[in-house]
Amino acid sequence: MPDSIHAGHAKRRLPEAGLPGVADARVLPDDSFEAAWSSVFLADELKDRLLQTVASNIRLRATVPFEALPLHGVVLLTGRPGVGKTTLARGLADKIARVVGGLGHWAFIEVDPHALASSSLGRSQRSVEALFGQLLEEQAGQGPLVVLLDEVETLLTDRAALSMEANPIDVHRAVDAALVGLDRLARRHPDVVVLATSNFADAIDPALASRADMVVQIPVPDRHGRRAILEHTIAAIVAAFPGAAPLLGGAVLDHAAQISEGIDGRRLRKAVAAACANDSCDPERVTADDLYASLQRTREQL
Ligand SMILES: Nc1ncnc2c1ncn2[C@@H]1O[C@H](COP(=O)(O)OP(=O)(O)OP(=O)(O)O)[C@@H](O)[C@H]1O
Ligand SMILES: [Mg+2]
Repeated sequence: MPDSIHAGHAKRRLPEAGLPGVADARVLPDDSFEAAWSSVFLADELKDRLLQTVASNIRLRATVPFEALPLHGVVLLTGRPGVGKTTLARGLADKIARVVGGLGHWAFIEVDPHALASSSLGRSQRSVEALFGQLLEEQAGQGPLVVLLDEVETLLTDRAALSMEANPIDVHRAVDAALVGLDRLARRHPDVVVLATSNFADAIDPALASRADMVVQIPVPDRHGRRAILEHTIAAIVAAFPGAAPLLGGAVLDHAAQISEGIDGRRLRKAVAAACANDSCDPERVTADDLYASLQRTREQL
């Protein structure tokens, strides 16, 4: 283990692995998260704006009273499945820790919302209160923190859309507890950033969107983005199977990007893998036609 990680752990006590409600806990910066940031191809302008907004808001929150400027440090990323929201959020967490200095050692906690949900009355409310009131509060007390609330609609379900069958009183209380927890964290800790993601913008309680300092809809990649994703995926395959190198030709990538309109980043990467499952089942022998045919099949499944 590198010394820097040792040093980070010595400075920050992370929650134990496997604690209910915690999907991941680590010290930032983190090299694998840095790779995540550079592997997501979106307009540079969008990535820059995200980072600049978070960094600037941390500075504002540390100096301007909450009553005058109610910034919660919450960024909400929405968009279709597979457009890179979770990957981008992890990458952003790493970037924040690298760019915003002088606050101490950053930590990262990914919340597992499914572990907090429970059908037994009162339990999810208590789990949510324990998460925000104890675990996150304790972590925030140690220093700057990025919290990832992935698939946030599970935790902050739209209360107005609840049917009466699904134990709505319990869900109401859990959502209330999460909102109270977010408010308390925001007021007490200007160096806590909450990154939330969702495929279901309509299923999220509007009180979360109202607390978000920034709501960003992550788009399906355009032709430029699709070309970059295909190139990145194919280059990784070529590194292991040099015979696949012809797929990296400019004309092949241009055409592949052109015929793959509407395909999200996850399916694009999978389509490259599927192209390798050609007649010879040998990635060394994959052809441009295999790639085009695979992308065509993916498009037909959209
Ligand atoms: N714009 C993109 N650029 C590069 N890779 C992408 C992009 N969008 C998605 N991917 C890739 O697709 C895979 C899935 O991404 P990710 O899990 O971040 O998507 P998501 O939006 O969180 O999906 P879901 O809503 O289903 O959770 C990852 O391997 C990611 O690198
Ligand atoms: Mg995701």
